[in-house]
Amino acid sequence: MISLNVNRKIYQVDADPNMPLLWVIRDIIGLTGTKFGCGVAQCGACVVHLNGEAVRSCVTKVSRAEGQQVTTIEGLSADNNHPAQVAWNEENVPQCGYCHSGQIMSAAVLLRENPDPSDEDIDAAMAGNICRCGTYQRIRKAIHLASEIQKKGGAK
Ligand code: FES
Ligand code: FES
Repeated sequence: MISLNVNRKIYQVDADPNMPLLWVIRDIIGLTGTKFGCGVAQCGACVVHLNGEAVRSCVTKVSRAEGQQVTTIEGLSADNNHPAQVAWNEENVPQCGYCHSGQIMSAAVLLRENPDPSDEDIDAAMAGNICRCGTYQRIRKAIHLASEIQKKGGAK
């Protein structure tokens, strides 16, 4: 059994220690907001936070997360009110939506580390998150809006 803290809740999971964290999150715990895109650390659809840092859960062994704090899109905020979530909603960012859990989880780390990112900062920080629908302009706009919301003391 592996003990996992996901979104501040403890789960005892019966999984091979080498199983990707993504598999455990989706298929064993049942939190399906985090997506499988490429499985080889190339797209960013599977980004979650491990102790507050963005990791690609498709290539992170579940054993690495044992006893650590895992946060998925479902646990990013109490009421979908993280500044990035609010901004994504305001700007109607998603098209098909598939990539956006990962986009938002990456954006949340960017906004914590750089509360007022320039376009260049955003492009650099988000380069690992691919969107097949090409929503990059709206992602950029939403991150600027999230930065404003955060400055005004938005949730989290
Ligand atoms: S599914 Fe993990 S990076 Fe693509
Ligand atoms: S909105 Fe479709 S992949 Fe990004």
